[in-house]
Amino acid sequence: MTSPKLSATAAVLFAGLAAGGAWAQSASTAVQTVDAMNALWGRHPHTRANHAKGVVVEGRFTPEPAAAALSTASIFAGPPVPVTVRFSDSTGIPTLPDGSPPANPHGMSIKFHTADGNAVDMVINSLPFFPVATGEEFLALLQALAVSGPDAPKPTKAETFMAAHPSVAKAFGAIATPSSFARERYNGVNAFIFVNKDGARQPFRLRVVPVDGVEHLTPADAARMPPDFLVDELPQRLAKGPVVFRMTAQLANPGDQTKDSTQPWPEDRRVVDLGMITLSTAVADSDAAQRQLYYLPNRLQPGIEVSDDPLIDARVRAYVISFGRRAQ
Ligand code: HEM
Repeated sequence: MTSPKLSATAAVLFAGLAAGGAWAQSASTAVQTVDAMNALWGRHPHTRANHAKGVVVEGRFTPEPAAAALSTASIFAGPPVPVTVRFSDSTGIPTLPDGSPPANPHGMSIKFHTADGNAVDMVINSLPFFPVATGEEFLALLQALAVSGPDAPKPTKAETFMAAHPSVAKAFGAIATPSSFARERYNGVNAFIFVNKDGARQPFRLRVVPVDGVEHLTPADAARMPPDFLVDELPQRLAKGPVVFRMTAQLANPGDQTKDSTQPWPEDRRVVDLGMITLSTAVADSDAAQRQLYYLPNRLQPGIEVSDDPLIDARVRAYVISFGRRAQ
């Protein structure tokens, strides 16, 4: 049965989206996207269409003064903010071995619980940039993958798609299995905009970096790991002490594009320390918690805005469809 909390959230979201402009057209892309994910990975009850397997932990975010200079968002104003963080494997397969290649990229979803009882969500993953630039291209990629099994005629639809979109192989070639969820760097990929008290607008991309450093396994070592080694290891690590990440933002230079997340900005762009994420506790019933949790890339607050990156809207619409299905 759907919990009243989930139903209420779904009702608000659907109402909000229905009020928006190109709902009918985009909804069909979003529905087709979630259909394609369900076709590729199966449809599992109460399970996300993507990033199905995960673990939920809690802690706090302590901002640096530099963040408040960039943005009026209350999460940067001063006192530490409680956070609920879900780490995840890719794909919609809830039993996927954590060390298998399709479990990459791994996800980190951060919910900041603001003092006014609302939330800000940041939903990021370990890809340095995204394989495609639009929701339509992502749908085409999923649909091509769905018909490119071992028996498909060569070149497969997926091979043809990838030949026309070199960023797909580049993006997936840049990821690896971490030794722990606590030893991975997670990237915002999409550009968002900080707005400060003078109204100055600064595009940025989020980077959340482990203080203990990034540590990846070789493919052979990853294949040898127990199937749940990542989701099991994090609570064990937290029982011994906190896990700390620096939350940073790469700032665009004037003129840098913000609408194509396949194109990272040059590495010489300034990176600002926004604060520290200190994770201290594993949630007792992580499975129940992750069913209730719902992250949305555009759940923001004044001082942080979406950019013109079309992927953000495509994501929101697909997340709503997936949420509606898993809430049933
Ligand atoms: C058009 C592009 C994308 C589509 C269609 C898409 C679709 C989805 C869907 C349907 C879900 C399940 C949502 C739910 O049931 O709550 C999901 C989860 C997730 N996605 Fe995406 N996604 C896209 C791009 C991205 C990007 C760019 C990132 C990060 C940089 C990302 C990171 C994640 C993470 C971390 C989760 C798990 C959320 C959670 O922990 O609840 N996705 N995605």
